[in-house]
Amino acid sequence: MAHLFPTQIRRFCRCNSTFVLANLLAAALVWSAYNNGYMKDIQENFFERRDYDSEEKNASATGWIDPPHRGPPTVGQACTPPPYFIQESLPDISNADKSMKPPLKDFSSYKFGTNFEKAIPNEQFIFHNKLPKSGSSTMNNILSMLGQKNRFNYRKLFPHDLNSIQFGAEHLTSEKPLVNFVKNNITSWPFVLLKHHLPMDFEKYNIQQPTYINVIRDPADWFQSHYYFERFGWTRKEDDRGSFHGSEEDKQRTVDQCVEQENAQCMEPITWKYIEFFCGNKEDCSSRSGEDEITKQAMMKAMHNVEHNFFAVGVLEQFDDTLKLFEKMLPRIFTGATEVYHSDRIAQKRAATKTVGAVPMNNATRAFFASGPLRYEYQLYAFTRQLFNERLRRSGIESIAKPYGVPPVN
Ligand SMILES: *[C@@H]1O[C@H](CO)[C@@H](O)[C@H](O)[C@H]1NC(C)=O
Ligand SMILES: *[C@@H]1O[C@H](CO)[C@@H](O)[C@H](O)[C@H]1NC(C)=O
Ligand SMILES: *[C@@H]1O[C@H](CO)[C@@H](O)[C@H](O)[C@H]1NC(C)=O
Repeated sequence: MAHLFPTQIRRFCRCNSTFVLANLLAAALVWSAYNNGYMKDIQENFFERRDYDSEEKNASATGWIDPPHRGPPTVGQACTPPPYFIQESLPDISNADKSMKPPLKDFSSYKFGTNFEKAIPNEQFIFHNKLPKSGSSTMNNILSMLGQKNRFNYRKLFPHDLNSIQFGAEHLTSEKPLVNFVKNNITSWPFVLLKHHLPMDFEKYNIQQPTYINVIRDPADWFQSHYYFERFGWTRKEDDRGSFHGSEEDKQRTVDQCVEQENAQCMEPITWKYIEFFCGNKEDCSSRSGEDEITKQAMMKAMHNVEHNFFAVGVLEQFDDTLKLFEKMLPRIFTGATEVYHSDRIAQKRAATKTVGAVPMNNATRAFFASGPLRYEYQLYAFTRQLFNERLRRSGIESIAKPYGVPPVN
């Protein structure tokens, strides 16, 4: 046994040389800080976020739940770090066939650290912190019907429901109004909440972490949906959300033209949030600063969360598969979801919430987004979709979608 130990240490060092060096450096810095009397400051800054009742938004940049794990590989496991730590350049698609959709980054050789046997973390509180423009209207209709059928308490929250003062982007991040709602307004359990919100840590308010679920979508389609929704809203006239503020020329511009003309709306940084919905509600998850390194870190943290902290993340392009998986993983809530989804009532509502006036972008524009302004979103999407298909496979669910660009999982 004893002779294995040095081998493991050697292997650990080989696999993690950057990690080891970084730690040595950090230790040296802390030591010198300690000797210079700065230690107290460091401790105070580090533990600041433990002051749970101070204004949450400011607590620190630590964000949601654990940081990415960088521990040594366990014995017997191949020496492969998670792919999102490989500083690998993205596939160059500048010369790729632009009449085709861009290929998705291949994560098929990655061994997910996910515990696929994990029990539902919290059976009483399910939080679908929905990514916008990713089928959440349909999900809302499904959950409303299922709530009656399966007897659970369901609520969709609009930004103005929680706090009329906080009307800006803060409705996605602020913790207190949501925490107050959970503490004071929920009358029966199990409870399913549907709300656009960046994932947050409830435990620091003495609330058990909810079971987080979400649905992700192809980033270019997601962008396009935002883009036209802002201009034309929904078919359903009484719910006309197309309160577009730009000129008529802006309004009529297609996504292709927007890219051709290098209009700011289609250039980096894209203003709508995507990575944040999987990363967290703190500043380190802000992917819109235009700082490449911050966005990359946010993407990695989002991947980590998808792998370890979300109970399940579905894929809009495989929506039937998604419902099947949710039925399997969360039967108390989702039993019958497929049937409800294919019922006439939902089909009618689906038609009514289709964004109108959309001129679909061509594949060259798509390639531009995939290698440009949405490159990290695409990596997160590819990673999440790969994990999703791995879950399907392990659950014995046969996919009815033909996933594009995703290598077959075997
Ligand atoms: C955090 O709080 C400090 C003082 O309470 C304030 O000066 C600072 O602007 C806040 N930062 C953010 C990002 O809100
Ligand atoms: C985009 O590429 C896909 C194949 O990847 C193809 O089926 C589709 O027709 C292309 N669309 C356009 C608008 O060129
Ligand atoms: C929460 O409960 C309070 C008090 O009953 C009520 O005024 C408020 O509207 C409720 N909030 C929501 C979002 O339902």
